[in-house]
Amino acid sequence: MNIMIIAVHPRISESRVNRALANAAMGEANVTYRDLYAEYPDWCIDADKEHQLILAHDRIVLQFPLYWYSSPPLLKKWFDDVFTYGWAYGPGGNKLHGKEFANATTAGGTKNAYRSGGDNEYTLSELFRPIERTIKRCGGTYLPSFEVYGVSEITDDGLKQEAANYVRFIQSSAFALAH
Ligand SMILES: Cc1cc2nc3c(=O)[nH]c(=O)nc-3n(C[C@H](O)[C@H](O)[C@H](O)COP(=O)(O)O)c2cc1C
Repeated sequence: MNIMIIAVHPRISESRVNRALANAAMGEANVTYRDLYAEYPDWCIDADKEHQLILAHDRIVLQFPLYWYSSPPLLKKWFDDVFTYGWAYGPGGNKLHGKEFANATTAGGTKNAYRSGGDNEYTLSELFRPIERTIKRCGGTYLPSFEVYGVSEITDDGLKQEAANYVRFIQSSAFALAH
């Protein structure tokens, strides 16, 4: 399985958690790792290049820190520019059929806070509905997300464990992730 991780972090050099996850996953032979903000500092996304890269991979992991209950904005632009009419949807737009997509997200809030009655009220699954709908609307397979909560409290050992969990996650079959 060819896996592409698209990391979307505006300041990856200042990141602790996403950098640790990325460093662990990058070592995997079947993983292509990309840093979207580094690749497109002018935000001019090359849709043709993105299309070729998506076609060359079976699974696309969207890795980002939670910013205001959503992703950093370049990921939204990536969807807008890459999921084009006639390619991702509409007549002949079937190129995402069968492609697997998963979010990998880090959050400052605790897991307890992300539920009904908690401080943040909604689960990440609920907050990610627009991404889920977009993937499904285009015929892709939307997998359960990888989530790291309470990032400011994570010890170095805890982070190592999360990084190992992340590597296991990206390599797991869709069946194993969903069951
Ligand atoms: C602009 C901004 C918005 C944020 N919004 C949220 C949020 O809505 N919910 C949350 O749990 N954490 C939020 N955070 C915390 C980040 O998710 C957290 O700092 C990040 O996941 C840490 O990962 P890193 O070490 O890779 O930067 C926010 C942080 C920033 C800078």
